[in-house]
Amino acid sequence: MKLEDHIRTIPDHPKPGIMFRDVTTLMAAPEAFAETIRRLAEPYSGKVDAVAGIEARGFIFGAPVAVALGVGFIPLRKPGKLPYATSSVEYELEYGTDALHMHTDACGHPDRVLVIDDLIATGGTALAAIKLLRDAGAVVEHAAFVVDLPDLPGAGRLREAGVEVRALCA
Ligand code: PRP
Ligand code: ADE
Repeated sequence: MKLEDHIRTIPDHPKPGIMFRDVTTLMAAPEAFAETIRRLAEPYSGKVDAVAGIEARGFIFGAPVAVALGVGFIPLRKPGKLPYATSSVEYELEYGTDALHMHTDACGHPDRVLVIDDLIATGGTALAAIKLLRDAGAVVEHAAFVVDLPDLPGAGRLREAGVEVRALCA
């Protein structure tokens, strides 16, 4: 099954020059969505202790991957959302800046945590997630995405940080 056929590209969203890869059409196609979750999870069976998903679209893919792997799910959230004590990291986006927060008791050494998001572009978001998890003591060796934007350096930046990257589509 070609998952990329279920992802549409919206030019100039959210600002001119950005080719926005819209995965809502993939989520709306039940067989393609289920296949996406299977393909994201399969390489990590028995190899990770938790899945961390990045708000917001990383939740939609990360939570079912955690269920498929039989491990817990760690939400990495935008500022002001998590109710308990948090640690945080700021980062730059393809189109702005933001920060990610995590509950201070969400994970620790020697938890092996898989990072999941819908898409990697510059890699700023995923690198912030990896720093947050590693600063807490977690072991982060794997990250998986539905889409890798190949013209942007994100996947290479993660590999330089010692993280093995998988993506289902370009
Ligand atoms: C998008 C996407 C990734 C991030 C990738 O999220 O879901 O999290 O950008 O970009 P990067 O590799 O350049 O960091 P966005 O910040 O738009 O937030 P959303 O999921 O809440 O819409
Ligand atoms: N996040 C960063 N760049 C993006 C893009 N081109 N499409 C969808 N989400 C993104």
